[in-house]
Amino acid sequence: MSDTDTVVSTAAAAVDFLPLQGTDYIEFYVGNAKQAAHFYKTAFGFRSLAYSGPETGVKEKASYAVQQNKLTFVFTTPIKNCAEIEAHLGKHGDGVRMLALRVHDAADAWEQTTRRGGRSYLKPVKMQDEQGEVVMSGIHTYGDTIHLFIERNNYNGAFLPGYKKWESVYNPPSAGLLYVDHCVGNVGWNQMNKWVRFYEAVMGFRNILSFDDKDISTEYSALMSKVMSNGNGFVKFPINEPAEGKKKSQVEEYLDFYNGEGVQHIALATHNIIETVSDLQRRGVEFLKIPASYYDTVLDRVGSIDEDLRPLKELGILIDRDEEGYLLQIFSKPVEDRPTLFFEIIQRKGARSFGKGNFKALFEALEREQEARGNL
Ligand code: FE2
Repeated sequence: MSDTDTVVSTAAAAVDFLPLQGTDYIEFYVGNAKQAAHFYKTAFGFRSLAYSGPETGVKEKASYAVQQNKLTFVFTTPIKNCAEIEAHLGKHGDGVRMLALRVHDAADAWEQTTRRGGRSYLKPVKMQDEQGEVVMSGIHTYGDTIHLFIERNNYNGAFLPGYKKWESVYNPPSAGLLYVDHCVGNVGWNQMNKWVRFYEAVMGFRNILSFDDKDISTEYSALMSKVMSNGNGFVKFPINEPAEGKKKSQVEEYLDFYNGEGVQHIALATHNIIETVSDLQRRGVEFLKIPASYYDTVLDRVGSIDEDLRPLKELGILIDRDEEGYLLQIFSKPVEDRPTLFFEIIQRKGARSFGKGNFKALFEALEREQEARGNL
């Protein structure tokens, strides 16, 4: 780690008042949930898990839950008279609405966070069916994004009460995606520190890494970022804000097209990034292209690695090292027509950082895309 990485040793609370067991699920509001679910099965290797909609007694919306290892994504679309989701779609296009976090006690999570200034979205509510019960609560975070707290200590159903098991004859093989490594939010000009304080004060997170515009700038565009982590490190939320550059920041482009703050990318972990990314590319997932020259000098920077460089170069996988080890990562193109949400695929081999050494190569690749859209 270089001296420009600021490790902020904010005193961790002696007792974690919001113990999180990880990400429970991520819910996307989309224009067509049936087709979105099919895309994530086909392109990313998810399997059908559960369904809720008119056939299960929910008249106004339909939701499809899909699963791959510890990842659960839910795609929800309005059917009729569903003003909340319609408004979200009209404003943002397809995007992440719920970052649902697993807790032991959803009532206590709501109590602890709202007492510290969190704005309530959902008071604790117990949902039951013949498979058991789930308690859910929630608070607002940046933009129109929600953190739900999910307590499922006594539930044996497919997903949540109100859903039925989604039986499908079509379940493509897994792409080896395992769990959410981190989930990044883009916030407005000068709003990063406000949300850093929110995660510290309301949710008991710590700022574990910071990047300023000198770390993260290319010739044209710039951003600043702080990485927030919960007590046990299972949940990490980097927060980006735009910074002044010669031309428009990539974060500003996102804010323009999402019409506000929201989730920029979700990083999905794999144990074998070469196999996973080869598979995803065959399935049609599009990734940012990195110039071949990146690979001429990368090993001088990161030292020796276990993998052959050749497949990494062919696939466009990036490499970075910190004092604990190294990591391999790659970024998809946006998965909507708006230049908003995209995915990162990451394999960690000891490193717990976020690929700072790749920012320049990565952002130059992003800018080429931004320029092609006429937004630079
Ligand atoms: Fe990331």
